[in-house]
Amino acid sequence: MRRPLVAGNWKMNGDSKSTVNLVNGIANGRAEVINAEVLICPPYILIPRAADTLNGRDDVFLGAQDLDINESGAFTGQISASMLVDAGCKYVLVGHSERRALYGESDQDVAAKFDAAQKGALIPVLCVGETLAERESGDTETVVARQLQAIIDLVGAEKLADSVIAYEPVWAIGTGVTASPEQAQDVHKFIRDMLAVLSTDLAENMQILYGGSMNPGNASALIGMQDIDGGLIGGASLQAESFLAICKSAN
Ligand code: 13P
Repeated sequence: MRRPLVAGNWKMNGDSKSTVNLVNGIANGRAEVINAEVLICPPYILIPRAADTLNGRDDVFLGAQDLDINESGAFTGQISASMLVDAGCKYVLVGHSERRALYGESDQDVAAKFDAAQKGALIPVLCVGETLAERESGDTETVVARQLQAIIDLVGAEKLADSVIAYEPVWAIGTGVTASPEQAQDVHKFIRDMLAVLSTDLAENMQILYGGSMNPGNASALIGMQDIDGGLIGGASLQAESFLAICKSAN
């Protein structure tokens, strides 16, 4: 049985004070979240502050938003998997559409990050999704399949078992426009069917999250769909109240 996972991607938001407030708010409301696993992904520099605030509690997981493919060395400005583990992270996002679009990450770059994350004992949350132009030209499935196939080509299908997939249609990110539950379900099912060709266990157990303007008003309908196993939340993860409301919609 798949457990829902609700993850907050804080993106480049917050400071020390807001981190303490937000983490305390989430921790205080955590007991009312019955079903979902809870993950927060602060900016790198705020991860230790979040970890200190959590003070050893293990019912709110920590993750990062990116990582470098190298373990250490002369890579100015970069952060490695082992540094993230040392800071308390269990997860790391790879291939977020903002990284792909703004920082030029190719499918192969994302696959290398996926591999580096796993080799460093982190669980990668692989983000996939199409742009508006790709959806309008009927290429959603082609794009998502290509993004997933790049990972399979590099690490092999069996390694996907230790990961999470997040379907984030680019046109729904930060726009207030959400994919309808049916639109999202269609792509989630497509992803699960693609996994089922590789292994029925893999397909059955994979947590596939939806991301893109998920909020307390639409979360229940989305998470209620058969193949949607939680959410990757941007804007609505920056307030404890709205983030917890989404977490509770999986109850
Ligand atoms: P929004 O929830 O702000 O649309 O962001 C979604 C997202 O990109 C999460 O990774």
